Amino acid sequence: MADTIIRPHVLMMSEITADGKLTLKKGASSKILMKYMAHETEILLHETRAAYDAIMVGANTIRIDNSFLTVRLVPGKSPIRVIPCSMADLPLNSNVLGADAPTVIAVCETAPKDRVDALRATGVNVVVAGKDHVELPLLLHILAEKFKVKKLMIEGGPTLNWHMLHDKLVDEIRLIHLPFIVGGSDTPSLVGGMHINTEDEMIRLNLKKFYLCGSNLVSEFDVLYAQGIKS
Ligand SMILES: NC(=O)c1ccc[n+]([C@@H]2O[C@H](COP(=O)([O-])OP(=O)(O)OC[C@H]3O[C@@H](n4cnc5c(N)ncnc54)[C@H](OP(=O)(O)O)[C@@H]3O)[C@@H](O)[C@H]2O)c1
Repeated sequence: MADTIIRPHVLMMSEITADGKLTLKKGASSKILMKYMAHETEILLHETRAAYDAIMVGANTIRIDNSFLTVRLVPGKSPIRVIPCSMADLPLNSNVLGADAPTVIAVCETAPKDRVDALRATGVNVVVAGKDHVELPLLLHILAEKFKVKKLMIEGGPTLNWHMLHDKLVDEIRLIHLPFIVGGSDTPSLVGGMHINTEDEMIRLNLKKFYLCGSNLVSEFDVLYAQGIKS
């Protein structure tokens, strides 16, 4: 289904340290690292949000970072905020449930009704996209068809990034490189999930652009999903 569905164009955008980490340690908010982004790069992030119809992060990022996911530093409209949360157990005081921008929470058929009702009572859209967990290809199809989303950006975390890549739903990647090393074998990195077993499973990227934005290196890739990496 992933290859043939009508779905938005997808950009994965992340701030990563020189050792590929997304945050200081497991369970820590990435807002601590983001404080060290150059102002020009913060502007780039907000300009990108303003240029996209929707922005998605995983439920755990909301639990840990309590992000707003709005456009604040540049003029422009905030994108629709999309959070996959299979069992509808997002804290009801999450900032994404506020009125700053429209929000879509994706749940599965078995999500408890009282939690779904509590989310709906905050004014957000709740969509059912899967039987016992949120199926991302189906969710992207719903976003395209029902919410007219043509361009979707995802801002992590590693679990969502891995599932999106695994389902072949990512078209482009833009990385903001932060000049720090944080270490930690269990510190979240750009892509989590399961390891691969052979080199044929590596996902091939095509580096298309790199530039300095303030003091931060920014790199941009196309995702090719070629069979294997043999050249
Ligand atoms: N530097 C950056 O750019 C950046 C950006 C974002 C996040 N982060 C960091 O990343 C960390 C959180 O990452 P994380 O890997 O723990 O969590 P995550 O990717 O933010 O969220 C994953 C959760 O999303 C829900 N989900 C529902 N359906 C899903 C599906 N089909 N595929 C994937 N996820 C689905 C699941 O929670 P349920 O089981 O509850 O449904 C899943 O556990 C935090 O430390 C945060 O600070 C960094």
